[in-house]
Amino acid sequence: MTAMWKGSGAKPPLAARINPRWSDEEIPRNVVADLAMRPRLHPHIITFANEKGGVGKSTLAFHVAVALAHVGQQVVAVDLDRRQRTLERGLTYREGTANNLGIRLPTPQFAVLEQPSTASLFQTINRLGGDADFVILDAAGSDSAIFRRAVALADTLVTPVNASFLDLELLGHLNPVSGVPERAGCFGQTVASLREERLTQEMGPIEWIVVKNRVRSAEKRHISRVDDALERLSIAHDFRIGQGLTERVAFRELFQFGLTHLDLGLIPDMIRPHESSRKEIASLLDDLNLSFDKRVHTSVSNRPAARVLRRTRQDFRAAISNAL
Ligand SMILES: Nc1ncnc2c1ncn2[C@@H]1O[C@H](COP(=O)(O)OP(=O)(O)O)[C@@H](O)[C@H]1O
Ligand SMILES: [Mg+2]
Repeated sequence: MTAMWKGSGAKPPLAARINPRWSDEEIPRNVVADLAMRPRLHPHIITFANEKGGVGKSTLAFHVAVALAHVGQQVVAVDLDRRQRTLERGLTYREGTANNLGIRLPTPQFAVLEQPSTASLFQTINRLGGDADFVILDAAGSDSAIFRRAVALADTLVTPVNASFLDLELLGHLNPVSGVPERAGCFGQTVASLREERLTQEMGPIEWIVVKNRVRSAEKRHISRVDDALERLSIAHDFRIGQGLTERVAFRELFQFGLTHLDLGLIPDMIRPHESSRKEIASLLDDLNLSFDKRVHTSVSNRPAARVLRRTRQDFRAAISNAL
């Protein structure tokens, strides 16, 4: 795409003057203009993004996608990380688990974005379900033109962070002595400029939620300092704070089956789901403050449950129990 201001005689946008290294495709005004000129997407879009890898974007995207499917919402999940494909793999394993257990599991429609272009993103969403209730976008952990589009498309932007000052730096820098926020971090700056452009182009606000992830109870003192810093940053950068998921081995282990603790109750003869983990996932969804009809209960796909050998079912169930 050509920079909109090139040759027009108008002054270049502020972002282009501040950072001449951005390509035309990455300039916030162009990013948002590229989205605004396309037919509007109807589902509520939830983007999981942070410029950092390994903070739990895919883990939280997976849990939120499944939790929404559990309450009867039509969900489309698009994995924007073509290399790691974590969300896509998790949902593929989920289909395999459902088949091997001969049960139905509420599952989003999903795909990997193979071409990192806006046209391909819109086509993928519309192909999977343009009339879905929610679209989940799981971004890769580094800045790019498509990353910025995923952030700028968000009605709800979810940024997972680990309880570490190193992670908070990407949002904003705090003076280590006074604790006063001094400047935006690289991701904080990107979100601020895309939010501003969205408002200029009347695309509505982005609700930003920073969610703590992998919190360990053993680090209470450190966590209360991180909480205090997050609180200050939330005021400076206009985001809400979500409690997220604690550090639990089971969240990792269940991934290989594409399962969450919400699903365990749907598996015949499975041991009782861990109530505290189930509650954590439910509060993660509550913290996002999404509006949907909460009276709708678990609905499953129309696909008939597969016929499976008893032995296969038993082996699968035993492997899942071992993972808990
Ligand atoms: N709440 C959690 N408890 C335990 N492990 C977690 C949790 N959240 C994420 N992980 C693990 O952290 C690693 C990175 O998570 P991932 O979701 O792939 O991050 P990202 O998508 O941001 O790169 C993975 O090994 C994942 O299993
Ligand atoms: Mg990921």
